Amino acid sequence: MIENKPSVHYINYLDLDKILNAQNPLSGEGKEAAHDEMLFIIIHQTYELWFKQIIHEIDSVMDLLKKDKIDEENVGLIVSRIERVNKILQILVKQIDVLETMTSLDFLDFRHHLSPASGFQSHQFRKLEVMLGLKIKDRHQFGGCPYHDQFKGQKKNEILELEDSASLFKLIEKWLERIPFLNMEGFNFISKYEDAVNEMMNNEISRIKDSHLLNDEDKNLRVRMIYENKKYFEQVFDENTHQKAVENGEISLSYKATMSALLINLYREQPILHLPFKLLKNIVDVDHQIANWRFRHMQMVEKTLGQKIGTGGSSGQEYLKNTIEKHKLFADIANISTLMISRSYLPELPKNVKNQLGFNFTDKWK
Ligand code: HEM
Repeated sequence: MIENKPSVHYINYLDLDKILNAQNPLSGEGKEAAHDEMLFIIIHQTYELWFKQIIHEIDSVMDLLKKDKIDEENVGLIVSRIERVNKILQILVKQIDVLETMTSLDFLDFRHHLSPASGFQSHQFRKLEVMLGLKIKDRHQFGGCPYHDQFKGQKKNEILELEDSASLFKLIEKWLERIPFLNMEGFNFISKYEDAVNEMMNNEISRIKDSHLLNDEDKNLRVRMIYENKKYFEQVFDENTHQKAVENGEISLSYKATMSALLINLYREQPILHLPFKLLKNIVDVDHQIANWRFRHMQMVEKTLGQKIGTGGSSGQEYLKNTIEKHKLFADIANISTLMISRSYLPELPKNVKNQLGFNFTDKWK
């Protein structure tokens, strides 16, 4: 039964008195104030509110992935929440347009007031990075001290605890390892896939060798490039080669999880694989949206600060540039595209396997 509660006013429900009284420009009030400081404060506060919502969504996705049994319904919910995160991230990237209306000169009117404060000290941004799976050893460090030295007490402990707990990356890896599609009766996926890849590559090499448009030098170069590309496939054909690449830090995703992700991508048209495919696609989009944000933020810093050091003490633009690629987390899932083969080479699934992967009732109507 829905409990009867006293009616509530819009202002109280949203606690607007608190929120709307939380903008306190340091450059002064009235005519003294630097005009653009209000924009600077509001835009940061807006980001922090959206970070809160993203953490709320990711937290719930992680809880769903920790369940003993993750059924279709759960995967549907996970997908819709990650899709929501991506929509928010798109807004966060776009919001930089608003801040870019503030020029470098406008910023200098109040920048000296806020030092040493910096987005570098955003606790929620760090929480989000660590929840997604960014480990301290994989960060681009500056100044010799760890990033969490910016926080004290409970705030620091929260980050350290997150560093030690399962991240979204790990939970997705576990989910991929658990899904049973690799053990389909009567269908040895890897050996069929290896045959198909070899056939595709041999055909590509023959086409190059038979070409009337390429000279011998070009032909040799292209054939060499095909063999070089083959190293990605060899990590899939042989578990030990994959393991070595993990140990060397070249890749992070486990062998079993990589195989599942590959199968999901290749056979995404099978009804039961639609949602797992959407999940993988959306998780790569999260990585890309955050990288987009990092890139736009870095460019904005270039326009407002040039080569000046940041208020947080980093090299500024140079530091930010280094984080764009280095802090990506789901690159191994994005790189599954390297392993894709065209539909014409794709091994045909036997009928019993198709039924396993389809919605069984479809057969009854035939
Ligand atoms: C004029 C506007 C801005 C300037 C000039 C600026 C500048 C910088 C600089 C130089 C850094 C590197 C750390 C340092 O030494 O301070 C940084 C980091 C950061 N900024 Fe901004 N920023 C601006 C706006 C924003 C906004 C609106 C946000 C939104 C929350 C934000 C969030 C962050 C975050 C999260 C970091 C840490 C990035 C990382 O370590 O990967 N910044 N910012």
